[in-house]
This record gives sequence, structure tokens and C-alpha cells, in this order.
Amino acid sequence: MVCTVVVGGFWGDEGKGKIVSYLALRDKVKIGVRGGVGPNAGHTVQYQGETLRLRMLPSALVNPKTRLLLGAGVLVNPARFLEEVEAFKVKGRVGLDPNCAIIEPKHLEADRSEHFSGKIGTTGTGTGPCNSDRVQRKAKTAREIPELQEFLSDVASEVNEALDEGENVLVEGTQGTFLSLYHGTYPYVTSKDVTASAICSDVGLGPTRVDEVLIVFKAYVTRVGQGPLPGELSQEEAERRGWAEVATVTGRRRRAAPFNLELARKAVMLNGATQAAITKLDVLYPECRGADSYEKLPEEAKAFVRKIEEALGIPVTILGTGPEALQIVDLTKRKA
Ligand code: IMP
Ligand code: MG
Repeated sequence: MVCTVVVGGFWGDEGKGKIVSYLALRDKVKIGVRGGVGPNAGHTVQYQGETLRLRMLPSALVNPKTRLLLGAGVLVNPARFLEEVEAFKVKGRVGLDPNCAIIEPKHLEADRSEHFSGKIGTTGTGTGPCNSDRVQRKAKTAREIPELQEFLSDVASEVNEALDEGENVLVEGTQGTFLSLYHGTYPYVTSKDVTASAICSDVGLGPTRVDEVLIVFKAYVTRVGQGPLPGELSQEEAERRGWAEVATVTGRRRRAAPFNLELARKAVMLNGATQAAITKLDVLYPECRGADSYEKLPEEAKAFVRKIEEALGIPVTILGTGPEALQIVDLTKRKA
């Protein structure tokens, strides 16, 4: 039995979706459960030639045997949720907690003006206004929404019982450490805490139940919306290096900066991380593309990984070498 929590180490978009989908396949995960904020998260998963763009469902869905759950802390946009259930044909294996709060059209409307002209530059998906109504005890919950009735489940019990029975559970965080309402670059943050402890609380898991906290870093740092980004490159330089990404949810340009060891160390501390993944190594070192073993990596890439590992004081167990779920160098055994 292993309970693994996966979190982002920077400002989101580290490639958590890819790592989670790989782990769901590798570890024959019984339950993939999402914590985090809501449909402001965009996870891109590539598997068997298909590209899945997820905003509500756990990225563990690539494993057809995995049950997919949304914890009580997650905000649900019912239309978006139902659309994904339909598109990915997962109706029989999805559940959400009756206490999930509901994003309504008024929340979208309020957030859209913030997105276009506000000082934070939110994703415009209604999550901030919905969380605000939630803390004022005014938000609706999933139990009040007729279309969601068939999906309701006591998620905390399902997850804890699966662990009691010795199954593997994957707890999927969203956003990244420095978007945390408490520990991030306030006020340029999302509308709740998104560090590992908060992700567990979203799901109804106590801290003693967690075995591993896997923190995901990208080989460089990106950030969308406003707020500080140490070492930020000009757009031209980001493009020259191939780091100029476009945001999945909003289509905005992601700002970019080189990997930041100091921030990474702080993120490891804030999350109590026990291991790290580094994604997009192939963007930094194109010779890595598709490599499936450490030996196949160029010396430069190995040195980069070693330097990070030494600075963080935890093992780097997974390296991403391409966009596909299985384009991975898995160092877990080496570390064991
Ligand atoms: P909100 O979460 O939509 O309120 O946006 C607040 C800030 O968090 C903005 O800077 C967004 O760009 C950022 N943000 C929220 N969710 C994500 C995400 O999944 N990836 C990257 N940035 C995000
Ligand atoms: Mg994303």
C-alpha cells in the first residue's frame, strides 16, 4: 500500500498531469483522487497517440482500472465536469464528494473581468469568486445539483478504506507551491492553499496516512498571470531557448525563467517532499528526447539532475524526456 501525493513545485504547469498518468499506469493505482482548486487547472496528458486536456478529472484516468474521485475541497463546474465524463467515457468510474462547491455563471462572470483587467490576472474560470462565496457559506454544493446526483460519493471514506485494504492511492494536487494563498507570492496567488497538506485536507486524508510526497519541477520555471518571477527572461530569449509556452486554460503566454534552486528548496520544505520529478529535460537537452534510461542521457543532463538532487537533499526519482506519458526515465529502483 502506498499513498502518494503529487504536487507542483513552482507556479503550476510543471507537468504534473504527465507524471500522474505515468504513475497511475506503473503502480496499478486503485484510486486517483484530485485535490486542489478546480477548473483553473489544466492538465495535458498524452497517451497512445491521443492528447487529453483535463480541467476537472484526475489525470490517472489513462489507467482504465483506476477509480477517479474529486475531493470535497475541489470546486466543480458541472457543465465542464459532465463534458469530460462524456468525452473520456469514464461515467462508471467517477465520483465526487457531495460537499464539492459549485461554480455558477455569476462566478464566471465576476472572474472574467478580473482575468481581462484585474491586477492578479486570474484564469477567469470562476474559482476565486466561488471560493469567496464558499467561505461566506453562500456557495451551492454538489448535493444540490440534480445532474450530479449519480456521481456523488463519500470520497474521504473511499480513499481511506482503499488504503486500509492495502491498495495504491494517488492524490493529485493542482497549481504549484508559489500559487498557494498562504505560502505563495501573495496577492499574486490562487484562492486557496495548494501545498501537500492542503491537498490532503481537500480529499479528507490525515497526514499520518501519506507515504510519499512527490514534488514535480519543470527543467525551467514558467508562470502565467501577474506576480514576481525571479530571473525572468525576455520573450525573445524564452523563444530562442524553446521555453515560450502557451497556457492550456487561457491561451496566454507563459513567462519563463531558468530553474531556481533556492525556490525549489523552499518548495521541498513547504510540502515535506520525499522525492522529486523533473519534467521537460528534453527541452533543455534535446538529445534526451524519448530516452528511457539514465545511461542514455548526455553528461550535461546528468550533471543538471545531480546538481538539483544535491541541493534538494531528496532523490530525483523520475525524469520527463518527452510529452508522452511513457517518455520517462524512472530512477526509483536505483534509489531504493
Ligand atoms: P485563479 O486561480 O484563476 O484565481 O488565478 C490566480 C493566479 O493563479 C493567476 O496568476 C493564474 O494564472 C494562476 N493559476 C491558477 N491556476 C493555474 C494553473 O493551473 N497553472 C498555472 N497558473 C495558474
Ligand atoms: Mg496547467
